[in-house]
Amino acid sequence: MSLLVTGGAGFIGSGFVLEWVQSRRGRLLNLDALTYAGHPGNLAGICNRENDNSGEYLFIHGDIRDSALVTRLLRDHNVTAIVHFAAESHVDRSIVDPGAFLDTNVMGTFSLLQAAREHWQQLRGRDRDEFRFLHVSTDEVYGTLGPNDPAFTEQTAYAPNSPYAASKAGSDHLARAYHHTYGLPVMISNCSNNYGPRQFPEKLVPLMVLHALEGKPLPIYGDGAQVRDWLYVSDHCEALRTILRDGKTGETYNVGGRSEMANLQVVEMLCDLLDELRPSPMGSYRRLISFVQDRAGHDRRYAINCGKIERELGWTPKENFAGGLRKTVEWYLANSAWVESVTSGQYRNWIRTNYESREVLAGIIGGAP
Ligand code: NAD
Ligand code: DAU
Repeated sequence: MSLLVTGGAGFIGSGFVLEWVQSRRGRLLNLDALTYAGHPGNLAGICNRENDNSGEYLFIHGDIRDSALVTRLLRDHNVTAIVHFAAESHVDRSIVDPGAFLDTNVMGTFSLLQAAREHWQQLRGRDRDEFRFLHVSTDEVYGTLGPNDPAFTEQTAYAPNSPYAASKAGSDHLARAYHHTYGLPVMISNCSNNYGPRQFPEKLVPLMVLHALEGKPLPIYGDGAQVRDWLYVSDHCEALRTILRDGKTGETYNVGGRSEMANLQVVEMLCDLLDELRPSPMGSYRRLISFVQDRAGHDRRYAINCGKIERELGWTPKENFAGGLRKTVEWYLANSAWVESVTSGQYRNWIRTNYESREVLAGIIGGAP
């Protein structure tokens, strides 16, 4: 009996895989295409051999859209659960190149669901009853909130605003339909913004840390008053293990940190942490804050009501934002070799593509525009 994880070399997936393998929770197969966001170094510390069928952990370099490969893995390893992380995950990239998001997030999830369905239909007895497909999704499918709107619940209507969010919404609908139509034991989680170790430095928190250390401008989109609900990555992984173990099939669970923060506030906290942990002779890192042209279609506020998973499954976030952010900054400071290995030429090209042509609204020594 094995668990199949997709996208387990990425940020959240690697957190999930490392904990699972190190806690000896059972056999785990990690299927990852190693796109720019997937990094073998994320899994350092666990045996990372490919095609070694003997151990508790097996890495397979492959694509979720390769249905022959997925079908073979499900059958040969008697897979009894799937946790599906693999996706294109960055909103800004979805604005520049939406096609990749439809290919992986919509068609990839479709292909995986189809293979899972055929595999599950051949299972018998307990294996069939206990089979689970956990689809890992995002709060962005619900769209944007006004400052006084109630937080998203599992009943909030879908209103995705970016190509990324729309592609994840499409994948959620497919996952739901495979449960409704075929009875596949699907569960869906919709989670808020994660932060923590090993996040690829295209996302807000690690990007700002690396830019600050290099003395580069800290590019805040628009007025920086957009609000996100932040969750430390290990809390998300624990929520997923809880859903996998105790969740009800056909159900959706919202997962969040009860930690709403404006972007500018997050960046100021990061600057203050760096001032304490790695002071610069040039003065506070806050001097680097720079307001730049906004993200197209930028959602103003996300907030998650995670009452259902708290009430029904007994999960609550353990880490508070200040503590989690400190651990995160300390991790980036202590792991410069990891940082160097992921900030290749390809990464620098992305930074040029996304930032160089953005108009600066208020220069390096900030103040809102
Ligand atoms: P990530 O971009 O860091 O990692 C994605 C992983 O998927 C990478 O290892 C990549 O190589 C792999 N991958 C991409 N395409 C693939 C394919 N076709 N076949 C196999 N592997 C492929 O993403 P993340 O931030 O760890 O997010 C993981 C999941 O959680 C995503 O589905 C995302 O939508 C969801 N999510 C993320 C957040 C967040 O804040 N990061 C919040 C809620 C939900
Ligand atoms: O809400 C969950 C989602 O959170 C996940 O589904 C996505 O995979 C994940 O990328 C994240 O999406 P966001 O767009 O919210 O994350 P990002 O880190 O890109 O941006 C966070 C906020 O910071 C957002 O309002 C945009 C802003 N931002 C981001 C970057 C990269 C800036 O102001 N400047 C930047 O340079």
